Amino acid sequence: MASVTSLTDLVSKQLTSALLATRPEASADPLLRRSDRADFQANGILALAKKAKANPRDLATEVVSRITTGDVIEDVEVSGPGFLNITIADRAVLTNLAARYADDTGRLGVPLAENPGVTVIDYAQPNVAKEMHVGHLRSAVIGDALRGMLDFTGEKTIGRHHIGDWGTQFGMLIQYLMEHPGELAPASEVDGEQAMSNLNRVYKASRALFDSDDAFKERARKRVVALQSGDKETLELWQQFVDESKVYFYSVFEKLDMEIRDDEIVGESAYNEGMPETARLLEEKGVAERSEGALVVFFDDIRGKDDQPVPLIVQKADGGFGYAASDLTAIRDRVVGLHATTLLYVVDVRQSLHFKMVFETARRAGWLNDDVTAHNMGYGTVLGADGKPFKTREGETVRLEDLLDEAVQRAAEVVREKAKDLTEEEIQERAAQVGIGAVKYADLSTSPSRDYKFDLDQMVSLNGDTSVYLQYAYARIQSILRKAGDVRPAAHPELELHEAERALGLHLDAFGDTVFEAAAEYAPHKLTAYLYQLASLYTTFYDKCPVLKADAPERVENRLFLCDLTARTLTKGMALLGIRTPERL
Ligand code: ARG
Repeated sequence: MASVTSLTDLVSKQLTSALLATRPEASADPLLRRSDRADFQANGILALAKKAKANPRDLATEVVSRITTGDVIEDVEVSGPGFLNITIADRAVLTNLAARYADDTGRLGVPLAENPGVTVIDYAQPNVAKEMHVGHLRSAVIGDALRGMLDFTGEKTIGRHHIGDWGTQFGMLIQYLMEHPGELAPASEVDGEQAMSNLNRVYKASRALFDSDDAFKERARKRVVALQSGDKETLELWQQFVDESKVYFYSVFEKLDMEIRDDEIVGESAYNEGMPETARLLEEKGVAERSEGALVVFFDDIRGKDDQPVPLIVQKADGGFGYAASDLTAIRDRVVGLHATTLLYVVDVRQSLHFKMVFETARRAGWLNDDVTAHNMGYGTVLGADGKPFKTREGETVRLEDLLDEAVQRAAEVVREKAKDLTEEEIQERAAQVGIGAVKYADLSTSPSRDYKFDLDQMVSLNGDTSVYLQYAYARIQSILRKAGDVRPAAHPELELHEAERALGLHLDAFGDTVFEAAAEYAPHKLTAYLYQLASLYTTFYDKCPVLKADAPERVENRLFLCDLTARTLTKGMALLGIRTPERL
């Protein structure tokens, strides 16, 4: 039996049955939460008393009389207007933690969801022939973390990187490449940096020509038509842009220490074939209507400046399809082809109106419904340390790679300062894990909908809510475990616990519950907050309770066990978020 029921669940169950025994008609939630006064406090009786028109303290006293104390609950008291204060037996804390420690599946005893669904996550979606920017960073980091957490709960996740690989700008690019062959080297011959610099050069040169030379502009227009009608030579050149861009994307994702699968890079172009069918279905169902030649969908509550309704354009008057048609077709594919139960989009909040219209259209068409839902995790803007949208001094958008390189460089300074005995190679290796971890953590620890400040000084600080602080906590534990030598960590449930041990232990037990909650709410910051608190509780424990110098051999073993379980929980939680925990720092 690898799975362990959390103490919160055990106590909740007991309380629920005591509540039901007292008031059989109640379907009351005991509303259990951690408390400073006792281990847990239950507030649910207040609402129940109100409903039953009973005196809450009397009701609470009645409920208490039905709770068996002993194994798990050591003590339960009525407090205040009718709260229950609950104390857990030390033995129960240690027994639960020991079972988590014994789980060799790497899940710390956390059970899988009973009825998992299929979530298709649309994240990390840069655009072909364009540099990635900080907005793409947020999508990648948040998406990857959500995926890690959802996977842990047992949900099946499928990634979709909806890259911008289609559109009229390709006419200009391809036409230019035809007239200047050899400007893009074969994708197999370039690294990420060369690929991007080639693409940038071609982009700038073709743009300049397009803006200054009307004859070229006309040829570029015709090239768009050739691309759309599937002309072979045109498509081959288009593919070159895609391949060259992928070399660049992969190099950035590698720097980000993130695994991206080729079969999950399914860009806008992949939905071209299905778009006419999407349009036909929408028109047939009466969801979309013809207006001035275009096929559009109207919404009562979406209006522009002059109070005119703003439509979603499925097909333009010239017959062309755009971004909306590709997203609607993608929804059909994900629901019908991939059997998704949830469609999750991690896209800049500035596209939220687009998604609002797309989702509503899909609902009207029946592609989304109560069983298949869609959400956009619209994330906020990345701001500079000055609180303004992140730009270089010259006012240009910051190149993502420069940013990552700088983070790693800053991390190297911190690592070098702290660990004098590391070789330069070791410093660089750790600096990458610390620097990239810092960037990810800073992003994830802010609620996604809020803007966040990209402040490298703060990110790599050893103090405060940073990944570096958590990584140090982890590395310190590893060093204690090494120092323990032959003394092995082992749980001794018969021991009485120090207050700091109880606080740490109860928090450790709540790991699984926290991941489930954070995953269900798409809230990675709830997991970072949990991990930060774990490191803080560990620090208090370590200050108050000597580990290797504890007064009895069993106590040494038991404290080493708490240390080791803390380390395993930290490393697991960080891994779900895509952040590494080096063994030494
Ligand atoms: N490529 C787009 C951009 O850079 C993001 C795509 C988001 N996903 C989607 N299904 N529309 O803005």
